[in-house]
Amino acid sequence: MSAASAERRGEPIVSVRDLQVRFQTSDRRATVKAVDGVNFDVRRGETFGIIGESGSGKTTIGRALVFLLKPSAGAILHDGIDPLALSRGEFQSHRRDYQIIFQDPNAALNPRMTILASVLEPLELARVGSRAERERQAREALERVGLPQEFGERYPHQLSGGQKQRVVIARALTLKPKLIVCDEVVAALDMSIRGDVLNLFADLQRDLGLTYVFITHDLAVVSHISERVAVMYLGQFVELGPTEEVAERPLHPYTIALLSAEPRPLPSAMREESRIVLQGEVPSPIDPPSGCRFRTRCPHAQPLCIDRVPEWRELKPDHWVACHFADRPNFSPNTLETTP
Ligand SMILES: Nc1ncnc2c1ncn2[C@@H]1O[C@H](COP(=O)(O)OP(=O)(O)O)[C@@H](O)[C@H]1O
Ligand code: SF4
Ligand SMILES: [Mg+2]
Repeated sequence: MSAASAERRGEPIVSVRDLQVRFQTSDRRATVKAVDGVNFDVRRGETFGIIGESGSGKTTIGRALVFLLKPSAGAILHDGIDPLALSRGEFQSHRRDYQIIFQDPNAALNPRMTILASVLEPLELARVGSRAERERQAREALERVGLPQEFGERYPHQLSGGQKQRVVIARALTLKPKLIVCDEVVAALDMSIRGDVLNLFADLQRDLGLTYVFITHDLAVVSHISERVAVMYLGQFVELGPTEEVAERPLHPYTIALLSAEPRPLPSAMREESRIVLQGEVPSPIDPPSGCRFRTRCPHAQPLCIDRVPEWRELKPDHWVACHFADRPNFSPNTLETTP
């Protein structure tokens, strides 16, 4: 990490304000509120986790963060600047600093291109240096992700899933990004190699001073890699805080339910004995419930939850929650009763 970037560690590299992303349904008759009023900062040098069930809006946030899609409302600032205010040329070079990697490496790699050609491609599109310089950088990126040089001449079908994901990481690294959004990047890999790939991400972060936004539905992944975690439900954040604090002392009933369903390394108080099975389906993001969106499944819902949207508040230092009753002393995973 350079001295300058080490010095600025902890400052916001991304600031998200009142972000909304809406999609029209295919018949254009309805609007999907995929992300609906989200606020957070990603700090330079950290790994910021986003967790939530399928359909909660995680990928949509990730794509918006790197401007693969345009927010419907609100703002995303990169290092204090609004990329949408840049000229076309400036925007193209700016976005190289903010990369995204998805779950399926097969979708990211052209089966007819050698591995070296795939890793060279972003450098060629960006017209970086001479041909020899580009090849040197591409080979260096392959080495960084732990692939021997002879892999450069191979094709994707000759590689395992884990090796292909390493190639995708190398491709993202060639342009020396500041931040990488990792969207379910180990979900398609065998359990046996997930740890190796997560360790690779950690090594690269340490060596290159990278910032990550790590999107996953898997609590074990988030607790392995993230310093802070945001919990998403139906297009909104319901809780955000240091990962250990959220895992040990969750404040939102949805987080409590999510953690209680997890058989893996969780505090003993939250295992089987206090398992909470959420009732009912996740409502549609086309027509979400009034007031608190979680109220149709919340074991603590009160009449107020129907009428009023819970405020997003910092209940403890650096620990945010959106629930009217999160500060009740008896509102914890061990005492699942609330007093009205
Ligand atoms: N291009 C799109 N057009 C219409 N709806 C979409 C589109 N992309 C995502 N959605 C919808 O937005 C919601 C959030 O999706 P997504 O961000 O993919 O969630 P997650 O990554 O948490 O599974 C879902 O209801 C999904 O069906
Ligand atoms: S605001 Fe009400 S419905 Fe929402 S999570 Fe809190 S108690 Fe449950
Ligand atoms: Mg997704």
